[in-house]
Amino acid sequence: MKTFNKLIVKIVQLMPKSLVRVFSNRYIAGDTLKDGVVFVQKLNSKNILATMDVLGEAISTKEEAIEAKNEFIEVLDAIKKYQLKSNISVKASQMGILLDEKFCFEQVEEIVKKAAEDNNYVRLDMEDSTTTDKIINLHNRLREKHQNVGIVVQACLRRTLDDVKRLNAIGTNYRLCKGIYIEPEAISYRAKQEIRDNYLRILREMLTNGNYVGIATHDEFLVKGALAMIQELGIGKDKYEFQMLCGVREDLRDSINKQGHKIRIYVPFGEHWYQYSIRRLQENPQVAGHILKNLFSLK
Ligand code: FDA
Repeated sequence: MKTFNKLIVKIVQLMPKSLVRVFSNRYIAGDTLKDGVVFVQKLNSKNILATMDVLGEAISTKEEAIEAKNEFIEVLDAIKKYQLKSNISVKASQMGILLDEKFCFEQVEEIVKKAAEDNNYVRLDMEDSTTTDKIINLHNRLREKHQNVGIVVQACLRRTLDDVKRLNAIGTNYRLCKGIYIEPEAISYRAKQEIRDNYLRILREMLTNGNYVGIATHDEFLVKGALAMIQELGIGKDKYEFQMLCGVREDLRDSINKQGHKIRIYVPFGEHWYQYSIRRLQENPQVAGHILKNLFSLK
């Protein structure tokens, strides 16, 4: 079945973008900032927080990076204007980290400064393992001057527990996720349970050191494990939140919200939706299979 689903994802990648769009709609708020704002307003009305992301990571020129930076500044303006309960999530690659690290730092710092003026917050998404050191360096340099920035770490990587021990020393604000990128076995855990065990090990390290953690997962095993750990360690509600992706496990999202835990949804929007949608489909090929069946049954 797994091979079948993987095959379906491959087929999906060969399909016209207009068709892929049909079933990627669930993962994105829309093409425009206005779509993003309306989506977040709906979440906020249910007492759910958001983190907004302007889609697009594959930039190849500094001009494109500057354009993306300006779009994030516009998002911050919109958050302020409409009094949204939302921060932003930024990809260092979109800000040019693979072109020039100094340039990237200046770009992201501009966003972080603007966010600070608005009393807002910037989360640096984590990308594939070729960028881990670069993104941690970027984060650490920003933290020398700014408090309103945090980082994502990935439980699938063997290095992460050690990274976290170092990052704890500067009081880091984390998002902890499993990690979406397919990495070589030499540097990553591959088995589902191994990743889960490492996730909980890292979470304990973060929480016992008094760090703020965005617990980003839709895995009920981890949600249950995190809740038990929070209770066992007597962690206050000001020290954690749960985080989920737009369009995934809304039942679990609502149940966490109902139990009175803070919850934040990742709200991506923008014209560059394709790459993001393919990653989400790779994560859950059953969705691709399901939708493909629906598409073929359309008369
Ligand atoms: P798992 O993949 O086991 O999913 C648990 C269950 O959730 C599945 O059984 C299914 O029911 C449902 N589900 C999960 N994904 C789905 C999908 N796409 N469609 C439909 N159902 C789905 N990664 C990264 O490398 N860098 C980053 O910066 C981030 N940022 C980030 C932010 C937030 C808020 C979240 C929630 C996740 C990320 N991720 C990420 C992605 C993360 O690394 C991971 O790939 C996904 O969260 C899936 O892992 P789960 O822990 O949800 O478990």
